[in-house]
Amino acid sequence: MYIILLGAPGAGKGTQAVMLSEKLKLAQVASGDLFRQALQKETELGKKAKAYMEKGQLVPDEITIQMVLERLAAPDVKNGAILDGFPRNIKQAQALDKALAPPKKKIDKVVYIKVGEAELLKRLGGRWICRKCQVPYHEVESPPKVKGECDRCGGELYQRADDNVATVKKRLEVYFAETSPLIDYYKKSGKLLEINGDGNAADVNGRIVAALR
Ligand code: AP5
Repeated sequence: MYIILLGAPGAGKGTQAVMLSEKLKLAQVASGDLFRQALQKETELGKKAKAYMEKGQLVPDEITIQMVLERLAAPDVKNGAILDGFPRNIKQAQALDKALAPPKKKIDKVVYIKVGEAELLKRLGGRWICRKCQVPYHEVESPPKVKGECDRCGGELYQRADDNVATVKKRLEVYFAETSPLIDYYKKSGKLLEINGDGNAADVNGRIVAALR
């Protein structure tokens, strides 16, 4: 089973990906996490991606598509995955269609999490992430039990460099220009499930699980 999570920055894709991958026993493949891990390890891939991420721009397709398709070929993804942050434009979607083509594989559903802009800004402004396992927290909505420490693995929590006001504005512009056309792309294929992303994460998760059933 392959499920794509689609939505603006801060819509809750990462949060829902963690919940769904635990519930459905599927691997989580998050392009942003893969880039941030490469950045931390200072690999060639990380160095290439850094400048784009800092500016809130998309990393070029040739780098991104290769990285995600390699990840999708790993043994732990053979039964399927929750894709978070990929695809991000039509070219990436077409590459994924090719990689997950029937009869062997297919994209089952695309979950579009819809959230208003004011709420997106509130969520990104209060986000903290685990350096080790990447789980997101929010300082008001879902704080960790111990300040600065991940409930799940004890890792250190940090705020992302691209969550500052100017970069968030750019990321939203890029989303509306390049990623939102995917809503129509997947609507046409009959795979899109539009989910109201308002309310707490558990409520949103309940709506997604009900729609997937
Ligand atoms: P990426 O890491 O993918 O970031 P993004 O798409 O901007 O999405 P976010 O991670 O910011 O938000 P989210 O929807 O996952 O929200 P979250 O669950 O954390 O990409 C970063 C960069 O990498 C890009 O700008 C680009 O440069 C590059 N990149 C990545 N993929 C690429 C690609 N395919 N092609 C090219 N470049 C790519 O939630 C946000 C906050 O809200 C958290 O604090 C959370 O606790 C809280 N929250 C979540 N749900 C709720 C709720 N229901 N109620 C209240 N609070 C909530």
